Amino acid sequence: MGIVSLITGRPGSSGFGSASTAEQVTDGIDATNLTAVITGGASGIGLETARVLALRKAHVIIAARNMAAANEAKQLILKEDDTARVDTLKLDLSSIASIKDFAQNFIALNLPLNILINNAGIMFCPYQISEDGIEMQFATNHIGHFLLTNLLLDTMNRTAKETGIEGRIVNLSSIAHQYTYKGGIRFQKINDRAGYSDKKAYGQSKLANILHANELSRRFQEEGVNITANSVHPGLIMTNLFKHSAVVMSMFYHI
Ligand SMILES: NC(=O)c1ccc[n+]([C@@H]2O[C@H](COP(=O)([O-])OP(=O)(O)OC[C@H]3O[C@@H](n4cnc5c(N)ncnc54)[C@H](OP(=O)(O)O)[C@@H]3O)[C@@H](O)[C@H]2O)c1
Repeated sequence: MGIVSLITGRPGSSGFGSASTAEQVTDGIDATNLTAVITGGASGIGLETARVLALRKAHVIIAARNMAAANEAKQLILKEDDTARVDTLKLDLSSIASIKDFAQNFIALNLPLNILINNAGIMFCPYQISEDGIEMQFATNHIGHFLLTNLLLDTMNRTAKETGIEGRIVNLSSIAHQYTYKGGIRFQKINDRAGYSDKKAYGQSKLANILHANELSRRFQEEGVNITANSVHPGLIMTNLFKHSAVVMSMFYHI
């Protein structure tokens, strides 16, 4: 989708565009046989995704680091449809230990997994290092989802084989992937504090989201795995994501 369509909402070849809502896109879909994990599903785009997938009867697992917010999100969805199947599980994507715990807890539930939406994200944060010693935006937005995906792949693959339903992995990237450090991802200098740019570090992590989906997709095709992996720019939506960007926040406020 080009920048003009992005801004105007003009539909693309699918008939949908950036102005289409999740309810419009999923209208008429029966997702009863699907189980979806949505990271960061307690707020923003993740919550709307969780709400609409649940509305279409999918079993939704909200993966969130803030369990109070996750439970609030669950109640919100149940208020709209008390038959919705929504569960919450703790996941902090900036912590390798938490990601491993999440995967273990999810696998212990013995559920199928058809859809993994790698949605959680942080943007434009001041320089920070994760508990595992990785620059925070890269750790949360990319490394966390990379590891999570790897740990859930066997379950997804088994589900796809047993059900014959194509699995789906969706990485929430951003048009900001175009604005990164010179040369793309600074693999040798991920933690470089002196050259840190909060904007470029975000762009770098979003570029990694795209490369991750592309490589997964290539491998799935090569290995004949019945799962697709895609990345998406979701449009420009006023959410908490912008909390570190006073300028953008005020722009949104005045339009
Ligand atoms: N909004 C836009 O215009 C826009 C544009 C392009 C791309 N995107 C992408 O869309 C995705 C969703 O963004 P959004 O706009 O919905 O932002 P949001 O409202 O801030 O939601 C992000 C979610 O990620 C969660 N999260 C952050 N760090 C986490 C961690 N360490 N572990 C687990 N969860 C964590 C947040 O939880 P907490 O509440 O606990 O922080 C929150 O629920 C992001 O990947 C973003 O890069 C958004």
